[in-house]
Amino acid sequence: MTKAKLKWQQLILSLGCLLLFIACNNSYPTTNPGVQVLKVATDPTFIPFEIQTASGNLEGFDIDLMNVLAQPAAGIAKIPGFTVQFESLPFDGMISALQAKRVDAAISGITITAERLKTIAFSRPYFKAGLAIAVREDNQNIKDFNSLKGKKIAVQIGSTGADFAKTIPNAKISTFNSGPEFFQDLLNGNVDAVVSDAFATLYSIKNGKLKGIRVVADLLTEEYYGIATPKDSPHLDAINKAIATLLSNGTYKQIYRKWFNAEPPQLPDSWR
Ligand code: ARG
Repeated sequence: MTKAKLKWQQLILSLGCLLLFIACNNSYPTTNPGVQVLKVATDPTFIPFEIQTASGNLEGFDIDLMNVLAQPAAGIAKIPGFTVQFESLPFDGMISALQAKRVDAAISGITITAERLKTIAFSRPYFKAGLAIAVREDNQNIKDFNSLKGKKIAVQIGSTGADFAKTIPNAKISTFNSGPEFFQDLLNGNVDAVVSDAFATLYSIKNGKLKGIRVVADLLTEEYYGIATPKDSPHLDAINKAIATLLSNGTYKQIYRKWFNAEPPQLPDSWR
């Protein structure tokens, strides 16, 4: 290789590095004065609420909602705005991360429950959900709660599905860290049913991501998702106001239509 050629190559390489450095540095939120960083935990294994794309980006209903929520227009911030910095955490570790204030909030299709309210706080409900039974397509025997008795059931660790499964008499419960794993177990024939969030399962089936599985029509529970924060969070009030704004200005409806191709149901302004 000639010397001149080598120099050009070196120059192009260093320019490339410089550009990369600037690009990375710019997207780093703390370099932007006046904008606060809101650290938000999520477990991106829950289609279509939070998923990680092949290129590593986070996508989903919750991700869109959290991002618009943090914009000044939504009213969450009295200061110029919040930059949301998502942090991927296993679902099972979310509550302790909030308790220890390692994160400012968590959005992850988290159901508001009385038990969880003992240790963390929740925003007003932002999504109406519920648990359902999923079975292999050819299984006609499992139709309702009663037919789950004594069956092998897979659930996600720390989820409301896991709590529910404990109430089924003589059920043999296997626990998994993430959604894709327990559906695989169902398909493999290791368990008879999965108890999990109906919307997420139905979405995966409809979009061809989950084949050979169907959801039993009747929901087992009615649940509401909330954004979770530590108990004495300084952000909770602003988050609640921002949700109210998005609900009344049509933004919530837009995001709902984008992901569910349907009109959103009415939401209560507080849980119970
Ligand atoms: N809604 C259920 C719960 O709160 C399950 C949520 C699972 N979410 C997730 N990102 N893996 O327990």
